[in-house]
This record gives sequence, C-alpha cells and structure tokens, in this order.
Amino acid sequence: MTRTLILLASSLVLLSCNAPQRSSPASTAKDSLASTTEIFQAPDTNELKNDEWGRMVKYGARLIANTSYYIGPEGLVSKNLGNKMNCTNCHLNNGSKAYGLNFFDSHRIYPQFRARENKILSMSERVNNCIERPHNGIPLPLDSKEMVAIVSYIKWLGERYDPKKHEGYGLKSIAYKGLQADPERGEKVYAKHCKSCHQENGEGLMNADKSTYTYPPLWGDKSYQEGSSMHRVLKAAAFIKYNMPNASASADQPVLNDQEALDVAAYINDGRIHPRPKPKHTDYENLKHKPVDYFKGPYLDSFPAPQHAFGPWDEIERAMQELEKSSGK
Ligand code: HEC
Ligand code: HEC
Repeated sequence: MTRTLILLASSLVLLSCNAPQRSSPASTAKDSLASTTEIFQAPDTNELKNDEWGRMVKYGARLIANTSYYIGPEGLVSKNLGNKMNCTNCHLNNGSKAYGLNFFDSHRIYPQFRARENKILSMSERVNNCIERPHNGIPLPLDSKEMVAIVSYIKWLGERYDPKKHEGYGLKSIAYKGLQADPERGEKVYAKHCKSCHQENGEGLMNADKSTYTYPPLWGDKSYQEGSSMHRVLKAAAFIKYNMPNASASADQPVLNDQEALDVAAYINDGRIHPRPKPKHTDYENLKHKPVDYFKGPYLDSFPAPQHAFGPWDEIERAMQELEKSSGK
C-alpha cells in the first residue's frame, strides 16, 4: 500500500509537468485520492456492438494502429502524415498500456488549457498536435470521419477510468532530481539496449511492403519533429525507462535505471548529432509556460539551452518557482 501511494505520488508529479501551471510536487490532490487504487484495464473492442458507435470506435482503433496505411504519405483515405509512423508506436498497445502513453484519462481532461498554444484546446485539436509534430504532418479536418473515429475511440477507451480508483494513466515519472543527462554515456546505452531494433543509424526498420515500420525511427527526417513531447528529455526518459526495450520493459520491471534512461533520451534527442524535422511554427508565446526541459530558448530564466535540454533541472525549477512567487502567482 505504501508502494501504491508512492507510485501515485510520482505519477502526479509527472502530470503536473504537463499541467498549464508549474504546480509544486507537494500537490494537494493526492491527499484526497483513495488509498487503494489499481492499474486500469482497458476494455476490449470485442465488447463493442456492431452498431454505428461500435463501428466508429473500431475504425478509430484501426486508425491508431495503422495510421500510416490510412492517412500516411501514401495513405488510402488521405495524406495527412509526413511520416510512416503509427500512433501506436508511441501510444503503446493502441493507447492501452499502463504507463505507456495511454489514453486512459485523456477524454475526461479535455478540453484543457494548453501551455504551448496558450489557449484551451479540444481533444480533436490535441490529436492534430500529434499529427503535426510527431507525425510531421498537416492537421485533419476537425469534422472528418477519421478525426471523429479517433476521438470516439479515445472516449470509449477511458469511459471506465476513474482517477480515484485507478492508476497507470499516461507516463510514470522518473527521479531526475540531482541527475544530468549525458548524450555520450547514452550512446553506450543505445548500442547495448536499443540498436538491435532501432538500427545503427536510428532510422528504424520498415516492414516488407514499406508501408510502415517494424521498428520505428528515433531520429532522422522520417522521425518526430524537434519540440515534440518525445523530443523532451524528461518525457522521453519516462517513456523509455518503463517501456523500452519494447519486448522486455514495463512499469513493474524496467530494464534501464533513471540515469541510463536520461542518458539514452539525451543521445537520441541531441540535435547536434541527430537531425530531425523542424517545427513549422514557433510556440510558447507565454514563456512562463515553457517546460523546463524544452530544448530551445528564449527562456524567462538565464540558464543556457543545453542545461534546459540535458539538466540538471533542479536549479532551473527553483528559479522558476522564485519567479512565480515574485510575480504574485
Ligand atoms: C513519436 C511519438 C508519438 C506519436 C507517433 C504520437 N504521439 Fe500522441 N503524444 C505523444 C507524447 C509524448 C504525448 C504527451 C504526453 C504527455 O504530455 O505526457 C502525446 C499526447 C497525445 C494526446 C494527449 C493525451 C493526454 O491524455 O494528454 C493525444 C490525444 C494524442 N497524443 C494522440 C495521438 C494520436 C491520435 C496519434 C496518431 C495520429 C499520436 N498521438 C501520435 C507522442 C506521440
Ligand atoms: C526488441 C526491439 C526493440 C528494442 C530493443 C527497443 N525498442 Fe524502442 N520500440 C520498439 C518497437 C516495436 C516500438 C513501437 C511499439 C509499437 O508500435 O507497438 C518502439 C518504440 C520506441 C519509441 C517511440 C517511437 C519512436 O520511434 O519514437 C522510442 C522513443 C523508443 N522505442 C526508444 C527505444 C530506446 C531508447 C531503446 C533502448 C533502451 C529501445 N527503444 C529499444 C522496439 C524496440
């Protein structure tokens, strides 16, 4: 039970990174949560009836799994994506794996204020963010059948998720306090634990008919854009620690420790050695909302970009908290 509480507390810290305002880790929300929580089990699409809703949700599931086939650069329905990755490459098991970037609580928390755009976004607009950045593509029309299907699937998946009873949503935080990520050390982690699938050149391995990937790319012009969430070292490390290597790591049994996950995340995302597509628009017009690990300035604080990208992050966080206090927030 103590363990459950610790898990819970750490996932809340992570959620707060995602939240519009930098809230302190000593959040009050955790005190009100029930003490017995369990990992959420996502429903099975076989439970769906063969009616309008069931068919729409199932189409959404197919789109998340085979995104490139439907809306990729040579897509059957449209050509919205700029690369041949699928949503499920990051939102593991079609967004249903505990701490694997799942969608358990997503529908409930949208519409939501988003720091980067500095405004409230709907769930559909949030989906388009992933189509634009990790998929380097152009937004789907909000009223397209594909968008409606994706959003229907996300709603259906999380309908029974109750944050008071369940855990496992999103990502699980890592203990980065006092740590710094080192791309050079990360190169060794990559060679030992990642290269066999994601390949020496990091560009992944396509399937036989080249319609998508068996092992998706981690850098290069076919991978996610700079400034995508996966490009942020703290986010990527939290994903990697509890999910990679793909076949063996889980939240209960990580293969890498916190330091190794940070180092390999830094190696993958280091723009000095690994190029990737550039974002089309600049963002974070309100610098107060810029995540601490964002790779590029300007920042409100005076720490240089490499420290933001690779840490240590503690002193930057302290400086930001001081700034917030002094601005009366
Ligand atoms: C390269 C990895 C990657 C790919 C590919 C990707 N995403 Fe994401 N997505 C992320 C990350 C990272 C986040 C941020 C999660 C966070 O902030 O903790 C995210 C967030 C989201 C969210 C918000 C979830 C929430 O609860 O806040 C939605 C919805 C979403 N993605 C949908 C999609 C869809 C649909 C696709 C396919 C069209 C897709 N994503 C493809 C990495 C990816
Ligand atoms: C056994 C093969 C395998 C190994 C080893 C492996 N991965 Fe992966 N990785 C995958 C697969 C497969 C996916 C996509 C998952 C899916 O589609 O279900 C993936 C997805 C990813 C993603 C998100 C998608 C993308 O391309 O950005 C990242 C990031 C990632 N892996 C990083 C790593 C890192 C870092 C390591 C080493 C610590 C690693 N992987 C080791 C197979 C592997």
